[in-house]
Amino acid sequence: MIEDARPIEDAIRARRSVRGLDGPSLTAEEVEALVRLALTAPAPHHTRPWRFVEIGPARREALADAMGAAWRRDLEGDTQPSKTVERALARSRGRITGAPTLLLGCIVADGLNRYDDERRWRAEWGLAQHSFGAALQNLLLAASARGLGAYWISAPLYAPDEVRGALDLDPTWEPQAFVALGRPRGDYRPFDRPVPDLGSEFTRR
Ligand SMILES: Cc1cc2nc3c(=O)[nH]c(=O)nc-3n(C[C@H](O)[C@H](O)[C@H](O)COP(=O)(O)O)c2cc1C
Repeated sequence: MIEDARPIEDAIRARRSVRGLDGPSLTAEEVEALVRLALTAPAPHHTRPWRFVEIGPARREALADAMGAAWRRDLEGDTQPSKTVERALARSRGRITGAPTLLLGCIVADGLNRYDDERRWRAEWGLAQHSFGAALQNLLLAASARGLGAYWISAPLYAPDEVRGALDLDPTWEPQAFVALGRPRGDYRPFDRPVPDLGSEFTRR
């Protein structure tokens, strides 16, 4: 037990998604310290379902190309105005190529219970995804507490084959999200966050 829970509670409240990031990149030690904390997340059946990758500058262009092509196919299928498509693609590309540090988080099915029926298998996979969310929250909280800026990017979940291909990842690693990290830009202001509302988001039975 810790003597005073307030610093942790303050850290939870203070964490924000910071999309305005400056360099320099995090050091290898900073990245490893954050990933080590991510790897302490709760996980189902005593598994270790997470895998993290630090993506260096040399891979970023090919990664952005492959993901951009996949997203373009999706967006064009949605019949969006071409200006909207181009703007979204350019912004996404900039986030991938421009992040001072870029981590990818994946999950693996090692240790999950195997069921023949789709319902229970989907639930097992859901357990690994929940655990991944907990791991990422550890990482984001630790980054924020160190004065770093960070935010979650969910694009890899929509283009897993392209991400695996561009990074030469094991076929059993299922890409879930990037985390972009850097130093918070002085002028960046996070979006307003709604005040927690127990009235509509919590109930008792
Ligand atoms: C599963 C998940 C996916 C997210 N994907 C993105 C994303 O692709 N791009 C982005 O800028 N933020 C993304 N976010 C961050 C949310 O937009 C952010 O957490 C939310 O707006 C609340 O703001 P806060 O983190 O500052 O409290 C994601 C968050 C979660 C949990």
